[in-house]
Amino acid sequence: MSLHRLTSVTMGVPNVAETAGYYTEFGLTPAGDGWFTTQDGGRQLRVVPAATRRLVELHIGVDDPDDLARVAASLARLGVAAERSATSLSAVEKATGVRATLEVAARLTQPEVPATPYNGPGRIERHDDRAPGILRAGPVKPRKLGHAVVGTTDLDATTSFFTDGLGFKASDYIKGAGAFLRCSTDHHNLLALNAPVSFLHHTSWQVDDIDEVGRGAAAMLTEHPERHIWGMGRHHAGSNFFWYLKDPAGNFSEYYSDMDCIIDDQLWKPEVLEGARGLFSWGPPPPPSFLAPEDLAALMTGSHSAS
Ligand SMILES: [Fe+2]
Repeated sequence: MSLHRLTSVTMGVPNVAETAGYYTEFGLTPAGDGWFTTQDGGRQLRVVPAATRRLVELHIGVDDPDDLARVAASLARLGVAAERSATSLSAVEKATGVRATLEVAARLTQPEVPATPYNGPGRIERHDDRAPGILRAGPVKPRKLGHAVVGTTDLDATTSFFTDGLGFKASDYIKGAGAFLRCSTDHHNLLALNAPVSFLHHTSWQVDDIDEVGRGAAAMLTEHPERHIWGMGRHHAGSNFFWYLKDPAGNFSEYYSDMDCIIDDQLWKPEVLEGARGLFSWGPPPPPSFLAPEDLAALMTGSHSAS
């Protein structure tokens, strides 16, 4: 695949300083210029001012300039205008207003983190000591950006832009409601969801294991229980463990671990998920505010303000 990674997301919010403080507490490292870094992925989040909260831009890594020429031709066939430089290509997806910028970039090779020892029946991986998950004391620091989820008023058009136009691949679908798309070996780097208005639903950040999902969320909730949205649980699409929290602008942020990876496209069979499966495999029932965030009506009327 010539696309190889979701490099970064740019989110627009009305309350930049407050939101920046939240993502610092979430475990990202501020670079001081509006950007935040992850442990393995470098500069992966940028927070910029906007009248209402929204997904402004995605950066996607490609291997070489030939890939840009191929994408430019594909976008032209769709009637989408694109800006080219020697090492990048940029175009706006109409339904969501999201700018997608493809850049020639090095592939991300993550250092291998040793498997966490978990005991099971007939399988004592850890003995004479307590579990690492309860001994860890430091703050949770996400390894990399995983995916962004965007609400779109035209699911077919948004899906076509990213697949037919840019070359994303479809991993699974939610019947009539969404498409899980990938530009890397991760099960999804972008989920486009049917919505009455275009908005950023959530961004998702990889941590080492289920203990880090739990530790990260618990730390965020200690003094701010109102940040809790949904978790702990496990999704069906992508298989990942999840816990969702809400930032001060109203965007959700997810800690995840153990996402499905698709190395051989021929071996993966996309499914059209129906009912609860589209949402999760197990966990507490999703709150109504996960599917329809409380500020959705305000976003629709353009009267959104940070709260
Ligand atoms: Fe997610």
